[in-house]
Amino acid sequence: MESIPDLTVVIPTFNERGNVAPLIERLRRTLEGIAWRAIFVDDSSADGTAAAVKAIATTDDRVLCLQRVGRRGLAGAVIEGIMASSTPIVAVMDADLQHDETLLPLMLASVKSGAADLVIGSRYMGGGSADEGLSRLRGLGSRLASRLARLVLKAEVNDPVSGFFMIRREVVDKVAPRLSTNGFKILFDIIASQDKPLNILELPYVFAHRHSGESKLDGGVVLEYLGLILARFSGNIVPPRALLFFMVGASGLIVNIGMLKVFLIAHLGFGVAQLCAAVTAMTTNFLINNQITYRDRRLRGLALLTGYIRFCALCGVGLVANVAVAALVFRHLHNPHMWWLAGVAGAVFGAVWNYVGASLAVW
Ligand code: GDD
Ligand code: MN
Repeated sequence: MESIPDLTVVIPTFNERGNVAPLIERLRRTLEGIAWRAIFVDDSSADGTAAAVKAIATTDDRVLCLQRVGRRGLAGAVIEGIMASSTPIVAVMDADLQHDETLLPLMLASVKSGAADLVIGSRYMGGGSADEGLSRLRGLGSRLASRLARLVLKAEVNDPVSGFFMIRREVVDKVAPRLSTNGFKILFDIIASQDKPLNILELPYVFAHRHSGESKLDGGVVLEYLGLILARFSGNIVPPRALLFFMVGASGLIVNIGMLKVFLIAHLGFGVAQLCAAVTAMTTNFLINNQITYRDRRLRGLALLTGYIRFCALCGVGLVANVAVAALVFRHLHNPHMWWLAGVAGAVFGAVWNYVGASLAVW
């Protein structure tokens, strides 16, 4: 009888067809003598990644494909892969061969012996590097992201945003309901969500070139990350999605003022100009939220149109509520010089209303 496996390697994939076979081949080689499983979590990639995994799974029962429908997101895929595993130890790695799989046996030995709860493949320590696999700009951004994460974590971790790590599964099980399913920073989120500090070991490796296909890390991912960091800074009182929503809302203010100027230059009366500017800002807010804040539930086609109408109706009511709350607070103020407090109260109420409403009724 084959021995019971110790290790599951969770591999999130989105359009990685060309990388599946070479990755599995490398796992076979490097994990020889170890009882392992691999779970590919694929978000129904259009390039047929899932089919490529399943074709191999018919001849190698260590390989499994968890194909998700109607969902997108790296963090959520990793969480579901870990939840689907049953081995005491799980590893997470990218499909594109940028992570050095030859580190896996040493990582496993470290977790198994109890020397560490979590082993991170680190690009940012002596012996590691990201210069090969990241452009200069991405390299800079990645280092900055690590800095920010370290500030929040209050832990000495060199590469807290690494996508390559191994961990005792029960450590993730405990915090799984609290993890954000958006964005890329699953490792950071797992560390930040622990009640007790983890015993962390870092091993350096060289982040290699992507084998085939292209990166999915874009501007939206970066914004999502900032939202997550801010949320953790706030002690998790405000969810990351709400923070993103409010950031987008603030950008609407800039659009509103800018367009007001444009419409005034076009000789529209002030009232009409402000109305047009406000509608423009509402429209850009809707579109940006659809692209970024709710990217995992993005509306398309007819749903985009009905969603837009709902969003406008919601913001209309939000505006009325904003004014009503501000007026109410203003009436109860003992000191009229505190007018701004009434304004802030109205704005906060309106923003929260819009966010809750949008989450419930639009996306
Ligand atoms: N299922 C699923 N769904 N998988 C996804 C998704 C998604 O929405 N988005 C990305 N992936 C998969 C990719 O297919 C790949 O296997 C892995 O997640 C990493 O994505 P890349 O697009 O290759 O990321 P990267 O190389 O640019 O970013 C690297 O650095 C980041 C930190 O700087 C990766 O190592 C990341 O894991 C890391 O967080
Ligand atoms: Mn990659």
